[in-house]
Amino acid sequence: MKLNVVVLAAGQGKRMHSDLPKVLHPLAGRSLLGRVVDTARALEASKIVIVYGHGGEQVRTAFANDTDLAWAEQEEQLGTGHAVMQALPLVDKDAEVLVLYGDVPLIRAESLHALVKASHGGLGIMTAVVADASGYGRIVRDGRGRVLRIVEHKDANEAERAIREWNTGFLASSAARLSGWLSRVKNENAQKEYYLTDVIALAVADGLAVKTTHPAHVWEVEGVNSRRQLAELERIHQREVANGLLEQGVALADPARFDVRGTLACGRDVAIDVNCVFEGTVRLGDRVKIGPNCVLKNVTVAADTQVNAYSLLEEATVGANCRIGPYARLRPGAALADEVHIGNFVEVKNSRIGKGSKSNHLAYVGDSDVGSKVNIGAGTITCNYDGVNKSRTVIEDGVFVGSNATLVAPVTIAKDSYIGAGSTISKDTPPGQLTVARSKQVSIPSWKPPKKKG
Ligand code: UD1
Ligand code: CA
Repeated sequence: MKLNVVVLAAGQGKRMHSDLPKVLHPLAGRSLLGRVVDTARALEASKIVIVYGHGGEQVRTAFANDTDLAWAEQEEQLGTGHAVMQALPLVDKDAEVLVLYGDVPLIRAESLHALVKASHGGLGIMTAVVADASGYGRIVRDGRGRVLRIVEHKDANEAERAIREWNTGFLASSAARLSGWLSRVKNENAQKEYYLTDVIALAVADGLAVKTTHPAHVWEVEGVNSRRQLAELERIHQREVANGLLEQGVALADPARFDVRGTLACGRDVAIDVNCVFEGTVRLGDRVKIGPNCVLKNVTVAADTQVNAYSLLEEATVGANCRIGPYARLRPGAALADEVHIGNFVEVKNSRIGKGSKSNHLAYVGDSDVGSKVNIGAGTITCNYDGVNKSRTVIEDGVFVGSNATLVAPVTIAKDSYIGAGSTISKDTPPGQLTVARSKQVSIPSWKPPKKKG
């Protein structure tokens, strides 16, 4: 069966109080609409049509690279039924159509599978039962429990408002049936809108069975209208991610103080302390320990490495058995071999660092190729930028760079050589020798301390 997904996303989202269209607000690093699109893709929809609002150019631009999406503009928001009608010309005639909302981000493919299955040969709607369904459309059933229609809150009488089963808005039926019903929907109601929900009574009138399914969790069908609701769903989502990792055996110090904005893959016995943020694609090998307050973005860390408190790692790879931080910064292109130590206030950018090399305090290593067993002293910096061009610094195996050295690139420090503390090195150095480049120390025996005048 061919499935097409229609995503309603023309809503303004005034209550967000934001210049960013509501569906572009991120939840766990991915826009609300992006999440819905991902779910539609997971369902293997052969077409995904997004109904966007007037002035929604920003939304289209945000998805400019997603060539699998079709766009239907709804200039005026005349209701959910009208919105679906705008999409229908782009929908395959022989498709089953599933309607989703761009501002309901946590719906899971499993729950939608069940809905699409139930809709077969008729109409399926996803509903949920809560203590108070105020504001939502209510599911009206007959004495035998068969669905008769949906009544919107604003059109409902007191008895109908007492119904606890509400319409999530997710619905599935064939394109042919939907277009037939929608052509008959009128806007004679409290809101003067073309309600998608009116198709339920039309289906019943046609003698079709209306099947209902429930999501596995109520949060799957909760929408975002305000920043508060967005923050609440963010926490629910993060808790789900945390629970999944805990079940896999990851030791999270506190699942409530932990954020994944992307994907985090962990080996065995990984331990993560509080307040860490993982962005993009992060892979942690067996027994990796992440200290508190670390941020890792698009990073791979191999087994047994420790990342200590307050470290920031971005677009970097870290080998096995390394010690990073506290307060270390790995910037894009930092590639550390095994057993490397990067200590506090050390910044590494676009540099390879060989096995067993160390830079333990206050250093900048940029655009460098550092060999193995190198020691880079405190306060040492590579001067890789002359204001116009960036050049590389090469530090060969076994080099010892004394404290507070300045290495002016392009420059090569040859194998097993020593650089005296405080040296400014702008020429290549020979292997196995000590190079010192600083003014000689002098003491002045005739010197007298200054005296106070007058
Ligand atoms: C709708 C349902 C209601 C259900 C509720 C769940 C109708 C008539 N009512 O309520 O039964 O309980 O969702 O949240 O369908 N949208 C458009 N164009 C429009 C109108 C809406 O794209 O002209 C989009 C919105 O951006 C949103 C979704 O459709 O993503 C739902 O719209 P919203 O106004 O939030 O829902 P209601 O119509 O109040
Ligand atoms: Ca709503």
